[in-house]
Amino acid sequence: MGAGARLPRHIAIVMDGNGRWAQRRGLPRTAGHRAGVEAVRRTVEGCRRRGIAVLTLFAFSSENWRRPRAEVRVLMDLFTQTLGSEVARLHEHGIRVRFVGERRDFGPALHRRMAEAEELTRDNRAMDLVLAVGYGGRWDIAQAARRIAAEAADGRLDPSAVDEEAVAGRLSLAGLPDPDLFIRTGGERRISNFLLWHLAYTELHFTDTLWPDFDEGDLEAALADYAGRQRRFGRTGEQAEALEKAQGA
Ligand code: IPE
Ligand code: IPE
Ligand code: MG
Repeated sequence: MGAGARLPRHIAIVMDGNGRWAQRRGLPRTAGHRAGVEAVRRTVEGCRRRGIAVLTLFAFSSENWRRPRAEVRVLMDLFTQTLGSEVARLHEHGIRVRFVGERRDFGPALHRRMAEAEELTRDNRAMDLVLAVGYGGRWDIAQAARRIAAEAADGRLDPSAVDEEAVAGRLSLAGLPDPDLFIRTGGERRISNFLLWHLAYTELHFTDTLWPDFDEGDLEAALADYAGRQRRFGRTGEQAEALEKAQGA
């Protein structure tokens, strides 16, 4: 592993600050969302180039439905358009796309694009790109609980066998490693109902950079911050160091 051991396998990003980026320029908030697409492109490419295995991007939360209807409409149109124009390139780069969140609330055009993107890229292995749209950490835990309850009621699952693995296996990110590094742009120090279960031991990095300005330098800074952390998972510093040495050998 060597130096590579210090690279996160999974990065999860709350892409915040689009509205303020636009407002500072005297533009409508939606101009910030458009500018944010370019930062998504840069970041996906930067992570793929570095060999990051999984990138999860928070694009629209379950609470973002509370925004003005016009802003929500622009965002939905932007997702639909961007998927249409970007998926071929993601596929060329060997990226597998997965959407997580409550899809029921999306229109048919977006639904179709999401299904097409997942289908087209399903066998790709260069990187997993998880797009959280209409996602909420509490929603995710609730839908996993619903599935567990249904399986138990059907007799397919023994209630006493419901452990952490059983819950994790029914969450939207099942099969992927938990995020090692969480990044939030835009200056707020909060989770905003992102991956509540999965962030249990994730290293948190906050930056004041607004999402449309997030570039290679910001990604490098986040990775450097991460590389300097000691991940102890409840152990002592000495134990963690010994374990890291043994694994890195
Ligand atoms: C993040 O930027 C994008 C979405 C939540 C869809 P914001 O739109 O929240 O930007 P600010 O926080 O208002 O600046
Ligand atoms: C979090 O940003 C959600 C996304 C970036 C998609 P918000 O701007 O919605 O977060 P709050 O409401 O300020 O916590
Ligand atoms: Mg915001």
